[in-house]
Amino acid sequence: MSDKVKAVVIGAGGGIGKAHCEVINRSDKSQLVAIVDRKEQNRTELSKKYECKAYESIEDLLSDSALELDCVVIATPHPQHADAAVLAFDAGKHVLVEKVFTSTLEDADRILKAQQRSGKKCGTICQRRFLVPSLRVKHAIDEGLIGTPMLGKVLMYGWRADGYYQEKPWRGTWKNEGGGLLLNQAPHQLDLLLWFMGPVEKVWGDWDNVAHKDSIEVEDTVNAIVKFKNGATANIFLTNAMNPGIYCNVHVTGSNCNSVGVETDRGAMFVAGASAAAGVVSKPAQPPTTDIWEIAGEPDHLSEWNEEERAFHYGLEDPLLYYHGQLFDDFFSAILEDREPLVTGEDGRNVVELITAIYMSRNKGNQWIDFPLKPDANGMYDDGRPIEKVVG
Ligand SMILES: NC(=O)c1ccc[n+]([C@@H]2O[C@H](COP(=O)([O-])OP(=O)(O)OC[C@H]3O[C@@H](n4cnc5c(N)ncnc54)[C@H](O)[C@@H]3O)[C@@H](O)[C@H]2O)c1
Repeated sequence: MSDKVKAVVIGAGGGIGKAHCEVINRSDKSQLVAIVDRKEQNRTELSKKYECKAYESIEDLLSDSALELDCVVIATPHPQHADAAVLAFDAGKHVLVEKVFTSTLEDADRILKAQQRSGKKCGTICQRRFLVPSLRVKHAIDEGLIGTPMLGKVLMYGWRADGYYQEKPWRGTWKNEGGGLLLNQAPHQLDLLLWFMGPVEKVWGDWDNVAHKDSIEVEDTVNAIVKFKNGATANIFLTNAMNPGIYCNVHVTGSNCNSVGVETDRGAMFVAGASAAAGVVSKPAQPPTTDIWEIAGEPDHLSEWNEEERAFHYGLEDPLLYYHGQLFDDFFSAILEDREPLVTGEDGRNVVELITAIYMSRNKGNQWIDFPLKPDANGMYDDGRPIEKVVG
């Protein structure tokens, strides 16, 4: 392999796929050698812009033996992630999958089995791990500054108008998306919670569609409790039904009662394909910040850090490209250095397992769901989602 990872984006013409092309093109660790999109207009535009090859399907791409290719980046709607990832691993490529890793746990397991067969790298995209305040919180936990993490909290006071769901026909449907805000908006914060707190013992969950009944079939609001293997507990409250949004944070308190936390979102920073002007989100973007930092004996850093975080954020040309760039840089370095990426396929699967357990809990009359989840005899998960087989 050369000193640059030769990469392709599947679903390159979509809201996030275009950002992937730009990130890969700008990086000194990668080269965009091809794009795949089922829409001809997207293929024409992007292959011209990036002077690369274009294919209509992943099958066409992989059957081109003349194309030198190391890595497949998947940016199609989530129910289609698994089929593309399995084909790519079986063709001997490294694979990076957009969040949410998959719509079902069954699909996540298919990907990880294919990865094991291939021995290649698998990563998933959770760019909020690369926020300065997220890294600060993780560092504090790893350094033992809060003792053992014991209390966790994920709060997402979010807002999406009907227009957000109507923008893309696959959104908000059981069949074509596989779920609602658990799958689409929350994976970032759920990933942070698991990264900070560790492995899960059991989950209680409830979910509903409280304010989008005319526009979507899936949930817009979720309540859940997580018990971790080390005895810790966390509370999760998520909604897309609170106008004004957006305010999301993940807080952790430790066994010594010290607390750390990150506000990942405020305003519309990462709402791909949506804009405040269109009335889809309620407020413009504001910087991610360290929003709680109580370490006994430490001086108060918060105001100084928040000032730095704001200056840093407002100095960025494009936050979405910057944070995706950080994650892609780590993934491509993992390939070049033959090490694990910061966000692995296994991490992606853990988020899908947590989401599946929340769906299952309500389906079983709000029972506690013990981990690890196991597929039933038919290979489907009894989580109550009316998706016999999600299709693209
Ligand atoms: N990390 C983030 O912040 C972030 C932000 C937005 C979206 N996403 C994720 O990215 C994925 C895509 O979301 P989006 O909003 O960009 O979707 P989108 O509908 O805008 O784009 C999907 C693109 O894939 C193409 N496509 C669909 N099926 C295909 C197939 N089988 N073969 C080839 N091309 C195909 C479509 O033509 C389209 O161009 C989702 O899983 C979503 O959750 C992540």
